Amino acid sequence: MDGIKDKVAIVTGGATIIGAAVAAALHAGGARVVIADIDKEGGERVAAGLGEGARFIATDITDDAQIEACVSGTVAAHGGVDILVNLACSYVDDGLESTRQDWNQSLAVNVVGAVMMSKACRPHMIARGGGAIVNFSSISAKVAQTGRWLYPVGKAAVAQLTRSMAMDLAGDGIRVNSVSPGWTWSRVMDELSQGNRAKTDKVAAPFHMLGRVGDPEEVAQGVVFLCSAQASFITGADLPIDGGYSAMGPEQGVPAIPLLAQ
Ligand SMILES: NC(=O)c1ccc[n+]([C@@H]2O[C@H](COP(=O)([O-])OP(=O)(O)OC[C@H]3O[C@@H](n4cnc5c(N)ncnc54)[C@H](O)[C@@H]3O)[C@@H](O)[C@H]2O)c1
Repeated sequence: MDGIKDKVAIVTGGATIIGAAVAAALHAGGARVVIADIDKEGGERVAAGLGEGARFIATDITDDAQIEACVSGTVAAHGGVDILVNLACSYVDDGLESTRQDWNQSLAVNVVGAVMMSKACRPHMIARGGGAIVNFSSISAKVAQTGRWLYPVGKAAVAQLTRSMAMDLAGDGIRVNSVSPGWTWSRVMDELSQGNRAKTDKVAAPFHMLGRVGDPEEVAQGVVFLCSAQASFITGADLPIDGGYSAMGPEQGVPAIPLLAQ
């Protein structure tokens, strides 16, 4: 992809499976990548695996001082910031039973953390003549899912945040877009299915047109595209990377009308 080479990118949540794939795809395109995560062991492992041009900076995105240290550390190491991927998330969610503390924690990571990271990167992007921000929304932003209130609300907020940010940062030459992945092979799926990808695909098949979960690399390619020069006229948009999940209706892929004649 044009426009990624020699750019400096920060990926929050880069220590996990999807985040690591995003970091790897940006790195493969020639970007220098900073992985910003609270998971020190995972973050260092991902950075070491990528090698030269990649580093880990321990960062809790709910803490302004750590955000500042991450961004200033990135600028000190690489001379600036061009790309920010707001990928870190919290899955804390007990639906109706969630406490005020749960709500505050969830929104602090999923929404406010992304805002504060963007705010801290903005002056450095302006100094480079512009930049690109990609926020992580989700299929969960637009549908009701049983027992889930906090996470979908946060992801819906991210979709709106993307439009607001795109509007106000356009004058700075900063494009802001989001991706909405469908079910993607990730840490949670790996843990819940005990590493069983075939079973995970089978569970996801009825509600993804393509009949499987996505690969982390497929999500990463969408992110890289939105960061690249190929997306130079795209801002304020959401890119579904969901195997057709959001285009499918309640009838799923099963002919429903013939049921009337049975
Ligand atoms: N897994 C899916 O199927 C799926 C579907 C749609 C959207 N998404 C989105 O993709 C992104 C990655 O999801 P995932 O399933 O890989 O999540 P994950 O839980 O595996 O990873 C989240 C990462 O964020 C980090 N993190 C958490 N709190 C943090 C904080 N305060 N500061 C810095 N880092 C913090 C974690 O350490 C972890 O590395 C998320 O934004 C998620 O909403 C995932």
